[in-house]
Amino acid sequence: MGQDLEKVLVTEEQITTRLQEMGARIDADYAGRDLLIVGVLKGAVMVMADLARSLHSPVAMDWMAVSSYGAGTTSSGVVRILKDLETDIQDRDVLIVEDVIDSGLTLSWLVGNLKSRGPTSVEICTMVRKPLALDVDLDVRYIGFDLPDEFIVGYGLDYAEKYRNLPFIGTLAPHVYESD
Ligand code: IMP
Ligand code: MG
Repeated sequence: MGQDLEKVLVTEEQITTRLQEMGARIDADYAGRDLLIVGVLKGAVMVMADLARSLHSPVAMDWMAVSSYGAGTTSSGVVRILKDLETDIQDRDVLIVEDVIDSGLTLSWLVGNLKSRGPTSVEICTMVRKPLALDVDLDVRYIGFDLPDEFIVGYGLDYAEKYRNLPFIGTLAPHVYESD
């Protein structure tokens, strides 16, 4: 995949180090509680797998898949549930785990949806936050990296369903987009 990449923004080592720090904070914040972490498919698969292994308490894990209606690559904020939780989250502490927050519209909707189910708490953990996300009223408790407004791939993030399996986060060379 090397020839398809432009630059590496976050290395595998930086991701590992950051996940240890985030895991330690989450362990401390939820000490003595019964945490459910919810991964948003498919992008959050990598961060869920690694974050979960950086935690030292036996958390429960569940998954949701949502699709955002809207033209092309822009998020509309109108969301449809493709796969719902299997867990009843009433009176549970829920931590949503995401790969990236860009417009934040999908996640604002998801937080509202989960809060309507009567949980004790709903917080957000994301590997990457982009600058647009600062414009929405979204309280993100755990952030891996604040990155500039560029299209990124790797560590779960895809371009046309590819490059999710890169172990680092980077940008694609222009020829990848041009050949489509
Ligand atoms: P939102 O704009 O915050 O609602 O983000 C919606 C979704 O767009 C994210 O969950 C990702 O799946 C996708 N996305 C946003 N920015 C990028 C990117 O730079 N690379 C790959 N996917 C992205
Ligand atoms: Mg996503």
